[in-house]
Parts: sequence; C-alpha cells; structure tokens
Amino acid sequence: MKEYAPCYIYSKKMIDEACEELKRELPGFDFLYSIKANPFEPVVRTIASHGFGADAASWREVEESLACGIAKEDIYFSCPGKSAMDLRNAWDKCVLVADSLHELTLIQKMAAERDTTVSIGLRVHPQYAMGSGTVSASKFGVDLEQMDELKKTLAECPNVRINGMHVHLRSQVLDAETIGQYYEDTMKTAVQLMQECGIAMEFINFGSGIGTVYDHVKEEPVDLAALREKTAVLMEMNKELNARLIIETGRFVVCHAGRYLTPVVDKKTSHGTTYLIVPNGMNGFLRPAIAALIANVAKGQPVPGMEPLFTNDNEFEVHVLNDAVEKETVNVVGSLCTALDVIRNNVEVNKSEIGDLVEITNAGSYAFPLSPQLFSSHSIPAQYLETEEGLVRE
Ligand SMILES: Cc1ncc(COP(=O)(O)O)c(C=O)c1O
Repeated sequence: MKEYAPCYIYSKKMIDEACEELKRELPGFDFLYSIKANPFEPVVRTIASHGFGADAASWREVEESLACGIAKEDIYFSCPGKSAMDLRNAWDKCVLVADSLHELTLIQKMAAERDTTVSIGLRVHPQYAMGSGTVSASKFGVDLEQMDELKKTLAECPNVRINGMHVHLRSQVLDAETIGQYYEDTMKTAVQLMQECGIAMEFINFGSGIGTVYDHVKEEPVDLAALREKTAVLMEMNKELNARLIIETGRFVVCHAGRYLTPVVDKKTSHGTTYLIVPNGMNGFLRPAIAALIANVAKGQPVPGMEPLFTNDNEFEVHVLNDAVEKETVNVVGSLCTALDVIRNNVEVNKSEIGDLVEITNAGSYAFPLSPQLFSSHSIPAQYLETEEGLVRE
C-alpha cells in the first residue's frame, strides 16, 4: 500500500457485512445511508446496492445519491437552514423534509408557483430526550411546543401536504434499551402529530442513534437482537398506521471499514521524546488531532462525546505496519506548522524506520470530508474502495 499513501482505504466487504447485519437484525425498517458520514462515491454505490436510500443533508448530496442510482423516493433531504436555492436545486429530485415554519412557507411558495401540490416530510424537535438527556432548545426541526403555530402555518400552505416525520436527537448510542425507548417515543409523537394536524403519516424517520464500537476495551456493540425485541411494539402500532419506518445510519456501516495510511517521512528525538512525522496528519484526518487536543485539556478526566468530531479518548488504534518485534513509544505527528497537528501522543508501536506506513483505524466515517484538506496547500490524500478485484478509485 506504500505507493498509495497518504490514503484512505475502505473495505467493501466490511461495508457489505454491516449493511446486511442491519437488514437482518432489524426487519420491518427501511434504511437510509447518511451520505455526510462518507460521501466517496464507490462507498455510496456499495451501500445503495443493499437497497439503502439516502439521508442527504445538502442538494449536492441529493445529486450524488441520484448519480449513485438511488431512486428519488428513497432520498430524503433534511437539514436546517435550507435556502430557496437549496430547495430549488433539490425540487422534484427527492423527498424534501421541512426543518422550520419558514421552510414550509418557502416550499408553499414554490409549489404554488409551479401550480402543484407537494408531499413533504417535517422534521420535529420533540418533547422528549433520548436516554438520560433533558429536553433543551434546538436549531433542528419544528419545536412541538409550537403546535399552534404549526397548525396555523399548515393552514396557510394549501399546496403542501405533510406525509411524514423526521426526528434525530443523538448519534453514537450503544445501549439498545435507550434506542428502543427513543423509537417508541418517536412513534407516539408521530401518532400525536397525525391526530392533531390531520397529517397522513406515510413515513416515520427515526433518524440515527445506533452507534459503533470505537474503543474495543471499554465498549460493547449495540445488542441489535435486544433492539429488535424492543421494536416489536412499534411494529404492532404500525399495523394501523402502515407507515414506512426508516432508520438512518452513517458510522455503523462505514466507520470500521475505513483505515487511514500515511508514511513516516521523518523521525527525530527531542528531550527524550521520539516523533514520527507523517504527511497529511490533521489536514488528512482531523479527528485524531481533536482527540489529542481534548486529552491535553482534560488531563485524564472523562469528556463526553461531541459528534461528529470526538467520540472518546481511545477512538482509534495507531499501528506502524512492519514486522518489527521491538516496540517503541512515540508521538505520531503531522507535518503542519502547528503543534496541534497530532495523530497520537505516547503511543506504543512497532519500532519504525522512515518510509514505514502508519495506519489509523476507524477512519471510515467523519474522516476525509471532515478534515481541513486545503490547509497549508499540501497534497490531498487519495481514497480507495478495496474490492475483491482490487482498489477502486471512482
Ligand atoms: C439527521 C442525521 N441523521 C443521521 C446522522 C448519522 O449519524 P451516524 O453517523 O451516527 O449514524 C446524522 C449525523 O450527524 C444526522 O445529523
């Protein structure tokens, strides 16, 4: 792999397995892939081949989903702050999900101009939290405290027909009980919305929540069998509604499948500390630098996850890929002109030489697109899908 690095390698086999695992373990749901987690087209095509639709957070992600063969009925465009241009660019190419009362009025105006009626979803900010959290203010969705304003706005939007609801409260939850309870609360909210606003609930999008293991020492994967049992009540409730039940997922299907490779280009010692210097450190993969920054500030105190930038203090493994038996403790750092450009401090790895490859795991989600690739005008790492036939670039 040396000739390809710095690069991301995504394993098609692992993506295939994760997609099939979700489908097998959670029957009764349709799945959307959250493109933002990893928009690399060969990855999106792989996931689409398993029948996943798309959770698109911009009109460009809508376009990409279409280009990857996803049907427009299976592309849900949901994000806060959609401008008129965003809506125009996505019009008739996906299911629009209004995120505010203002967006409802924008969509009404566009539908009236086109002399048509449009069916859309509504993202809501519900009156329950997920797990032990508390209900707090949010920029996402229409606050259900404002039910009266919602009804009034809907009455002023004769060309808009709400036919579904979207909620997403948290990512990276590993407790099946918490996720199951959240699904149940969401289902009840959908029924309430349907009754109070006279909405035909053709789809209920429960958003994401299903997490993946980052720290193999401290974390356990979501017990999907237990979650399936918890969802039995939903399936029962849905017998009457007959809505499309949707789960969104990003990291679950791609996080583990990705690894980041970058070569050691220099090795030096300062005050007894050995540094391995690699190109495209934080400007290739940002999250390790954020984890190192937080570790510096937290000084051993636990810090809650702040997705999608930080999960926990042991969210990656760092390896030197050689056969050396001897180990050494090093700081793996990037080549930018900032001391914050750190992959991992004080990590034990195989004793290395210049030219060896450093591998960082869990690099399949929120990695390439979430990193400041343009900073300092370095080269940009390549991305490859690893298939049985070899590496695919596009
Ligand atoms: C609305 C929405 N859905 C789904 C996701 C995907 O989350 P995850 O990658 O944790 O599955 C996100 C992530 O930010 C999101 O904002």
